[in-house]
Amino acid sequence: MSYAIIGFGKIGQALAHAFARKNIDVTVASRRPPEALAAEARAIGPTVVAKSPREALQADTIILAVPFGEHRAVAKVLPSWKGKTVIDATNAYGVLPDELGGLPSSAFAAKSFTGAKFVKGFNHLGAAKLATDPVVEGGHRVVFLSSDDEDATAPVGDLAKQLGFAPVNLGKFNEGGALVHARGRTWGQLIFQDLFKKEQ
Ligand SMILES: NC(=O)c1ccc[n+]([C@@H]2O[C@H](COP(=O)([O-])OP(=O)(O)OC[C@H]3O[C@@H](n4cnc5c(N)ncnc54)[C@H](OP(=O)(O)O)[C@@H]3O)[C@@H](O)[C@H]2O)c1
Repeated sequence: MSYAIIGFGKIGQALAHAFARKNIDVTVASRRPPEALAAEARAIGPTVVAKSPREALQADTIILAVPFGEHRAVAKVLPSWKGKTVIDATNAYGVLPDELGGLPSSAFAAKSFTGAKFVKGFNHLGAAKLATDPVVEGGHRVVFLSSDDEDATAPVGDLAKQLGFAPVNLGKFNEGGALVHARGRTWGQLIFQDLFKKEQ
């Protein structure tokens, strides 16, 4: 398996730390040329290598860590996404549901990556927390996964485990996955919190 992270901002770098911690090779790319990212990538670890988006997208498994609206630009870099797995770490926070045709944001984004296995994951933790060692207090920090393609989730769960996380499969985007989807200005976690407050 080969891995790439597209977007080398807060989330991209947090995930790069997770790969570096386990000595797993990963390429990282953003809109800036690879030379502009090289020093920061090297500082994270020797297994983190900056490349151009086109080169990085040769990987089998690609983590999207760009602002939600940029998924289209990333999708256009490759002529075909067949055989690829895309892990969507984006949140469409602030994007109105009408702009997404009422779809969960990952179902909407997946339409741009025809042929890819598309899994949402690594999107519910703040970047600072995501960057830290997920093995805490004798346990493994959870990452939630969801996908409309049932076969796609297990390999992403395996990657999450390799990185030290405990994956939890929530099912389809508009079912369990909705709990970790931003919708307009609401967020599944907030729904949990509201319910929790009502129960108290
Ligand atoms: N920050 C968080 O705590 C957090 C938590 C969970 C999920 N998220 C989600 O994760 C995603 C990234 O957030 P972030 O906070 O990491 O943002 P960020 O710090 O602004 O970083 C965004 C990165 O995406 C790159 N980028 C933008 N358009 C691109 C394109 N077309 N092709 C390649 N790279 C592109 C930028 O590259 P340049 O530097 O070259 O412009 C930058 O490296 C968002 O969807 C956000 O909702 C964020």
